Amino acid sequence: MSSLLIRNIRTLVSAETTPRHIVKGAEMAQLPVINNAWVLSENGRIAAFGIMADCPERADVILDATDRFVFPAWCDSHTHIVFAATREEEFVDRIRGLSYEEIARRGGGILNSARKMQLASEDDLLAGARARLYEVIGMGTGAIEIKSGYGLTLESEMKMLRVIRRLKEESPIPVKATFLGAHAVPLEYRERRQDYISLIINEMLPAVAGEGLADYCDVFCDKGFFTPDETDKILKSASVYGLKAKIHANELGITGGVQVGIANNALSVDHLEYTGEEEIKALLNSDTIPALLPNCAFFLGIPYPDARGMIDAGLPVALASDFNPGSAPSGNMPFVISLACIRMKMLPEEAVNAATLNGARAMELEKEVGSVAAGKRANLMISRPMNSLAVLPYHFGSQLAEKVIVNGKVFENELPDPTIKAII
Ligand code: NIG
Ligand code: FE
Repeated sequence: MSSLLIRNIRTLVSAETTPRHIVKGAEMAQLPVINNAWVLSENGRIAAFGIMADCPERADVILDATDRFVFPAWCDSHTHIVFAATREEEFVDRIRGLSYEEIARRGGGILNSARKMQLASEDDLLAGARARLYEVIGMGTGAIEIKSGYGLTLESEMKMLRVIRRLKEESPIPVKATFLGAHAVPLEYRERRQDYISLIINEMLPAVAGEGLADYCDVFCDKGFFTPDETDKILKSASVYGLKAKIHANELGITGGVQVGIANNALSVDHLEYTGEEEIKALLNSDTIPALLPNCAFFLGIPYPDARGMIDAGLPVALASDFNPGSAPSGNMPFVISLACIRMKMLPEEAVNAATLNGARAMELEKEVGSVAAGKRANLMISRPMNSLAVLPYHFGSQLAEKVIVNGKVFENELPDPTIKAII
């Protein structure tokens, strides 16, 4: 048995005696905290916590957290960290005035990533994704979802999903895998898009499900990508294999994506930069979680999602990084929290709930991570000295994680194979 005790914690955040599964509406502004606290982990799991007057005396490892906050690790429910190459040339094209959609229409964007993906070896992809995974764990991420979607052929999608499976096997934090064959229509299918949809339904889905490579199925349901009808067909086919929906919707316009996600019982509908009253109403009558990705609005210069409208209407909101080479080349969850507060007017408490428990729920991991509760994984972040919770979003861009704890152990930010020098 190995144990870790963190004591003299200024504030232990999200300490729950009665674990919640999700936080909605006005509850999102409430964060259960214990001041002057301790937390004990045994064998990688939270065993107990309390106030310093009742602190245990012994443990294998003892850390002092005087002046520090202890948070549950971030739960990043939407990423694309398996990719073959960065796309900074498109970034410069956008600086010069091209739009993201224009670049996509010219065969850049996702299709650019797909061309490079086809040439990459599984081992090289794994090395790159592993470097990104370890980078984000070092910033406090303690559970992550990873999508395919830069393959766009049967072989290449399977290659990406096998890389995600290998990451899942070796990762110290929980990983969920999502099949995103419907990320873009390849150029050669532009005049016969039905054939690409048939390929997804008749060949990709059976192969992916046959090897048990995915937990979820995603579709980029948006202007210039997949229509709600096409999305509906793909999601219905995926559900036959037991793959639940988690979709990209309303990033580029009001497109009906949110509604089609809800009609298919999507676990989450993600992006939602364009959301009106109809979408909010539909979400209120569902169990689908809106997952907001402010990195994308920041990086592409598009409108931010209306988090305030959603929370004030009583919805739960999750926050995720969308780490990918095209629209959000960063997996820095504290920065996501800063953007949520600065640009989306979320309160620090709301943003922390959204980036922890609600993110966990958007990956069906709410019993495993997302708060400090007995039996959950001891995946925690110990902050630098901080006066109050608001310092976390306030110091945007600072590295506020002094120590990251993964499965009850201090995480040393070293790649398992230090000879691999992957380009981030
Ligand atoms: O979530 N919007 C669609 N997919 C990704 C971006 C993919 C890319 O540009 O490579 C996203 O933003
Ligand atoms: Fe995405």
